[in-house]
Amino acid sequence: MSKIKDCILIDLPKIIDSRGNLAVIEKQAIPFSFKRVYYLYDVRSDAVRGGHSHKIQHKFLIPLSGSFDVVLDDGSEKKILNLNKPDTGLLIPNGIWRELENFSAGAVCLALASDVYDEEDYIRNYKDFLKSKNQ
Ligand code: TYD
Repeated sequence: MSKIKDCILIDLPKIIDSRGNLAVIEKQAIPFSFKRVYYLYDVRSDAVRGGHSHKIQHKFLIPLSGSFDVVLDDGSEKKILNLNKPDTGLLIPNGIWRELENFSAGAVCLALASDVYDEEDYIRNYKDFLKSKNQ
């Protein structure tokens, strides 16, 4: 069962250049192989995204532009991280409840997922999440 300590920040390889910097995500950079990429954009500053956990899937979130907070919850402990570096991503393994909030203007959240979209993999009810953690 995943715990908060399993949610780790990972620095991506980057190539600093006076013309503009470049960060790379190769498959060995993150501890799962990804089958899906999606991104959140045009998010209102008062919006809350996420609000779910995954049964099996792992995610890796990168603040490509701007910043936002990620509230992590493993059922017994909570932690808030502000993601604001486009070369540092957050690994969120399965079994972690997350909420994304406080998006800055123009923020873009890139998400890598370990599998294709499957609504069956989501737990969207917080009480069901707590039950899943106590099994
Ligand atoms: P949702 O999981 O609620 O977004 P978030 O957790 O990032 O706030 O997804 C919003 C809607 O988009 C929901 O109807 C499911 C759909 N969706 C897809 O069809 N494919 C996807 O890859 C994702 C992430 C969501």
